[in-house]
Amino acid sequence: MQTVTVLLTGAAGQLGQILLKKLYRKYEVIPVDIVRPGVQDGRLKIHLLDITEPRQVQKVFSKYSPAIVINTAAMTHVDGCELDPDTAYRVNSKAVENLLDCCDESCLFVQISTDYVFDGKAGPYSESDTPCPNSVYGKSKLESENLLREKHSYSLIIRPNVLYNASPRSSASFFAWIYTSLKNNVSINVVTDQVSNPTYAPDLTELIEYALDRELTGLYHYGSRNYVSRYEFALEIADVFALPASLINPIKTAELGQAAARPAHSGLKTDKIEAAGGRVHSTGECLHKILAEWST
Ligand SMILES: NC(=O)c1ccc[n+]([C@@H]2O[C@H](COP(=O)([O-])OP(=O)(O)OC[C@H]3O[C@@H](n4cnc5c(N)ncnc54)[C@H](OP(=O)(O)O)[C@@H]3O)[C@@H](O)[C@H]2O)c1
Repeated sequence: MQTVTVLLTGAAGQLGQILLKKLYRKYEVIPVDIVRPGVQDGRLKIHLLDITEPRQVQKVFSKYSPAIVINTAAMTHVDGCELDPDTAYRVNSKAVENLLDCCDESCLFVQISTDYVFDGKAGPYSESDTPCPNSVYGKSKLESENLLREKHSYSLIIRPNVLYNASPRSSASFFAWIYTSLKNNVSINVVTDQVSNPTYAPDLTELIEYALDRELTGLYHYGSRNYVSRYEFALEIADVFALPASLINPIKTAELGQAAARPAHSGLKTDKIEAAGGRVHSTGECLHKILAEWST
């Protein structure tokens, strides 16, 4: 049987690293990123590629002719995007166009989007709800979704929210921030007025593998079974990992004075992906999976 080639962008990122370890056994994965993580071994070695550079992208496509592109690369720093919209649009949407320009019709394009395409006035949201982003990050990610709808029908768009994984070092993970702060006895302010259903990255990678196996296309939301405020999630983390909850101070979003607006009542309904056979877990189950992983 011929091996299917998958171009995985953002392979050094939070989601990319887990996807790479999951998919390389089944696919010929070409992992690329603008940066490389410290440890590099064998088939997991990440090639350097800046997806905002069309010529670099063309070179990679000519060399590997991928049958599937999974784009996890993004500028994920929400306030950074607000302060530098040019870079945000260049990385989060224009670069998607660069990738699409090299894909022929038979290439499946998997785009990881976000709940930030909604303003959070009426969540949780289903796939049929109309996006209305209230930040540059959300707008730039929505633009990438729209590019796919206009230019490449053979695509799968998955929207996760508040992505986290077992690594306490992931800079884009809410869990990592809470865990390392409490572990180091650092007091933190956590908002009570942003609600979501956080997405455990290993569950998302399983879902992506499942979707590839079944050749799912279209738009799907993915998150945990339960909805929590960031504050409630932080308390749950403290409880599961036996860390001092007294270090978590409840505050309101407005008190933070952040550059970008955040969706308040967000969250992503998972009925569509569950109807397609995707599995959904609670935040408690996912945190206990991390605990179990650490104790083995
Ligand atoms: N983290 C969340 O809470 C969250 C929530 C919802 C949706 N998402 C979406 O999920 C996806 C994965 O997120 P993540 O948490 O894994 O993010 P991440 O850890 O920030 O990973 C993204 C990766 O893309 C790389 N990248 C940035 N600019 C690039 C460029 N020009 N060319 C190539 N690579 C580039 C980043 O490198 P640098 O680190 O050097 O920038 C990073 O390694 C993203 O599409 C994000 O929008 C994330």
